[in-house]
Amino acid sequence: MQPFDQIDRLERAEALDRPAAAIRPVVQRLLRDRRVKDALHGVWLGHPLHPALVHLTLGSLLSASLIDLVGGKRRYSTGLIATGLLLTPSTAAAGWADWSAAHPDQQRVGLVHASTNALAVSCYAAALWKRARGRRGGRLLSLAGAAVAGAGAALGGHLSYHLALGANHADRVSDLAPQGWQPLGALSEVAEGTPVRRTAGEVPVFVLRRGEQVDVLADRCPHLAGPLSGGEVVGTDGNARVVCPWHGSEFRLDDGHVVHGPATSPVPRFETRVVSGKLEVRIAPPD
Ligand code: FES
Repeated sequence: MQPFDQIDRLERAEALDRPAAAIRPVVQRLLRDRRVKDALHGVWLGHPLHPALVHLTLGSLLSASLIDLVGGKRRYSTGLIATGLLLTPSTAAAGWADWSAAHPDQQRVGLVHASTNALAVSCYAAALWKRARGRRGGRLLSLAGAAVAGAGAALGGHLSYHLALGANHADRVSDLAPQGWQPLGALSEVAEGTPVRRTAGEVPVFVLRRGEQVDVLADRCPHLAGPLSGGEVVGTDGNARVVCPWHGSEFRLDDGHVVHGPATSPVPRFETRVVSGKLEVRIAPPD
């Protein structure tokens, strides 16, 4: 058995669904302000925010433990623990925001990831509390925190690299789409005002026709690969957007850019033309 087989089992641990079901509405209520939620997802950054904050938080805490391990100056490790603990609330909030829009197997692993990190943070907080009260020690607590944080980081890595939470699920579309113009059939056969799914070569595409205007995007949400052709179109003219049916990410139809998360990357867009009544598309170069 490989060490990470245990993590694979967590993905299928249905016993975690009950706590997840209890926590989910609480997180969703706390994050009901969409601007806050988008900010925590990292829409403004064009990149998931949680992993960026994790580097700062975990980097500070593990550096403190390293100083404690080699017997370095305690005031340096204490300062780093305080920095890591100050960063923890925003890091955790970004993580919970991502967790709230994840698949069940990702949420199961995410719950254990969050619990492990909470334990690690408690160890560091106890170490800081001891030092703040002028007591000696806290070194063992700092080292215990590092060991537990390492386990939490392994779970976080599994979420990112194995379960692809936070990855851009539409990134490879521009490589997979065939070069040059691809036929999508007669324009007259594309229904008006309702998104439909077609394929350009082997690549599924979202097609929306509004009169002579035809918008074509990859039919793959960058968040977790939801089918955009099953989503709702909102807004009009230059402000029309498609809402992903899975977790509600919104993308502008004219350029594929993200309006609301949880997605943080744009949807690849296709250029269109009509030749002798036939609709043709080709992948557009990135902006
Ligand atoms: S797959 Fe999650 S918002 Fe589209």
